[in-house]
Parts: sequence; structure tokens; C-alpha cells
Amino acid sequence: MKISIIGSGYVGLVTGACLAELGNQVICMDKNITKISQLANGEIPFYEPQLQDLVKNNIASKNLHFTNQFKDACKNRVIFVCVDTPDNEGKPDLKNFNSCIRSILKYGKTNTLIVTKSTIPLGTNSKVETKLARHNLKHKANFKLASNPEFLKEGSAVQDFFKPDRIIIGTNDNSSENILRKIYAPLSRNKNKIIKMSLSSAELTKYAANAFLATKISFINEISQLSEKTNSNIHDIRKGIGSDPRIGSNFIYAGIGFGGSCFPKDLKALKYSKQKFNLQEGIIEKTISNNEIQLNKFYKKIINSDVTSAKNHRIAIWGLTFKPETDDLRESVSLKLINKLASKVHSLHLYDPMADYKEVANLLKASKNIFYYDDKYKAAKACHSIVLATEWKEFWELNASLIKGMTIFDGRNIYDHSYYMKYKINVVGIGL
Ligand code: UDX
Repeated sequence: MKISIIGSGYVGLVTGACLAELGNQVICMDKNITKISQLANGEIPFYEPQLQDLVKNNIASKNLHFTNQFKDACKNRVIFVCVDTPDNEGKPDLKNFNSCIRSILKYGKTNTLIVTKSTIPLGTNSKVETKLARHNLKHKANFKLASNPEFLKEGSAVQDFFKPDRIIIGTNDNSSENILRKIYAPLSRNKNKIIKMSLSSAELTKYAANAFLATKISFINEISQLSEKTNSNIHDIRKGIGSDPRIGSNFIYAGIGFGGSCFPKDLKALKYSKQKFNLQEGIIEKTISNNEIQLNKFYKKIINSDVTSAKNHRIAIWGLTFKPETDDLRESVSLKLINKLASKVHSLHLYDPMADYKEVANLLKASKNIFYYDDKYKAAKACHSIVLATEWKEFWELNASLIKGMTIFDGRNIYDHSYYMKYKINVVGIGL
């Protein structure tokens, strides 16, 4: 099938490259010409495992093309809208999304199916549907709309695309449903993965999924606070509750909280929608505030520790990205912690295996007492303590003799306290 993708960022590029791999003729559009020239040469502007090879192979097989022109992207009759909808004080900014819809109506063939993949606030698809209906009437056209929300996880997005848990097709129209069923048929062969629903249900399903996952994290983090107060062990509690299939053992790891491009933004957007509908505060709002409380508690543990006085405390920070296997720094809890610590401690010595340090420096408030390293042990060398903020694989197994006598504030609970005790390394975890 001939498919266009508008917005070649994280979601658009992964979707485009994977659909090309399935044999479709895909054209990815982005208004950023530098990005498009890079992509046309097979250069990916961010890190995502397997994506580079996929893009290069599909450029070579001529299944994947790039353009910065709406006119080119609007030649195809199926257009996925994957533009960003950045957070704007809780309300997603729809400037790019709306302008994309306007351009499709201007340049698109009159019988085009528009598929929204961007996460857009509740009610947006319905507004677009009304707009299309008006346009169709006025111009004797037949633009259609479907919602196909994205559930990819950064760091395993390519794998997630080819092995989806579910494929949501939100549409009120049979022919649009059939087109999307055909596109996704190769991923739904073994087991039916497709769940068909209305446009508005699809829109809310995406928000509900992310809010539920974030709630699981805030819940276990709250329990971790009780676990500390009662001298319990959060690992045992996690196993104890996770063994009940109704609860499940995934996504209940206590830590310093969730970050990333999705959870914080989507929760704020849901909070905003609730306010708009005059709904009372509840779990969504609590999930947001618990995430801040959890980080604050960890920050206080560091500041009030007896390692040394706060003003003399030299701290190595390991891991800056919002999670491992990505270079994404958006809403990174690690950076939030650094911003809190910087003015209170002597100095911070940063290391991350993938993050772009220039970008990190731009995102941080302070710079005077912040230093960057290309090796975790070099970062830790002159420090009193290490903060493990993002659990990259290379942090799991340590050469204990190189950090003997230090304290590790383990923000992701990956270290075995009794093992490191043998090297006089004091590990301070969460909920332990
Ligand atoms: C998330 C959703 O998982 C995905 O389905 C959706 O499409 C986009 O948002 P992603 O943002 O890539 O994906 O990250 P995810 O792996 O879900 O982690 C989010 C945050 O939660 C990270 O900061 C991670 O460290 C934290 N987390 C995750 C925990 O603190 N504990 C856990 O048990 C799991």
C-alpha cells in the first residue's frame, strides 16, 4: 500500500520505517529540512535500537522515501499524522497538528484516509471529524478519519511495532477500518491483535493506558515509603503482589519516579480534560503529585545523609536519560534531581553512556559546579557518593574495588546491599 507519514519524529519515523519493512511504499514528511536530508542519508537524529538499519535497508530497497513538502506527502490516500503535540502548561499544543490537517485538506486527494497517531486531547478527533464533514460537503470530497494510537516504548519501539500487544483502530467508518486492517494484517496473523472501537474510545484508550501504567509506578512508590517506615523489603513486596495475575509483575518497580515524553504530558492532559469536564480530583492528580513526592524524598535522603555535609558533598550522577536504551532527556527524573541538588551540594559529576552533554547542559539550570565525564568511574573518582538515576546495563555489574568505601544512592534499586557491604560500599535504596 502507498502510505504517507507526516511528522518524522520518534513515532512517525518508527512507524514509517516499520511499515516500509512490511512491504509498503512509504513517504515520511517533516517540515524540518535538515532532519529530512539526514534521514534521506540514513542518519537517525536520535538513538533507537534497530531503527538505523531498518531505515537504511528500506531506503536501499526503495520502500522508504523522505520529503519536506506537504504536496509530496499528500499524494497518497492513507496519511498517518504523527506530528508532535508538546505540553503547553498542561494543555497539549495543537498548532502543528491543526496545521497538518489544514495542509492535508489543501493538498490531499479528495478520498484520503487521515489516521491520527499523535496523542491528541480528548475531543480533538471529533472536532476534526466535524471539520472534515464540512469540508467534504463544501468541496464534494470524501476525506475520512481514523485514530490509531501509538503504544511503542522507547528503547524497544521497533520490536514493539512488530510484536504489538494490540492494534487499536478507532473509526466510525467501515471502509477506513478495512484499510487499516489490511495494513496491519501481517502483525495480526497469529493472533488477532486488532481491537476496533469508536474514534473517541481510541483517543481515550491511549490516555487511559499511559495513566494506568504511571499509576502503577506511583502506587508502588507510595508503598515503598511505607516499606521503609516498617523495615520491610520492597523487592519482596513487589514479588508478593506481582504473583497475583490480576496485579501482574511488570511495571511495579519502585524508584525515583517516571519521566519521558509520554507519562508526564499525558497525565497533565488528562488532568486538564477533567477540569474542563468539571470532574473531581482523583487518582490521576495523585499519580502526578506522588511522582514529585517520591523524587523529593530521595533528594532529602541525599542532602541529609551523613556521608558528609551537604555543602562539601561531591556526587557522581550515573544516568541522565529518562530511561535506559534511549538518548531521550525529556522529563528525565535524573535532570530534575540534578537541578534540585546543584545549589545545595559542592559539585555534581555526570556520566551517561548515550546522552548528548550539550543538550543536557542546555536543560540544566546550573552549570558552575557541574562536570561531565566519558566514564562512570572517572566521574565517581573524586566523589563521596554515587547516585544511580537511570539503570543502563553497564551500571548493573560494578568493579567494587574502584568505588570502595563510597555510598551509592540507588534510585532504581538495582544493587545487592549485602554484596557491596563486603567492599564497605553503603547502598541506600528505595523501600528497603
Ligand atoms: C510509555 C508507555 O510504556 C508506552 O506504551 C507509550 O506508548 C509511551 O509511554 P516510554 O515513555 O518509552 O513508554 O517509557 P516506559 O518504559 O513506559 O517508562 C516510563 C517511565 O517509567 C521511565 O522513567 C521508567 O524509568 C519509569 N518506570 C517504569 C518505573 O519507575 N518503574 C517501572 O516499574 C517501570
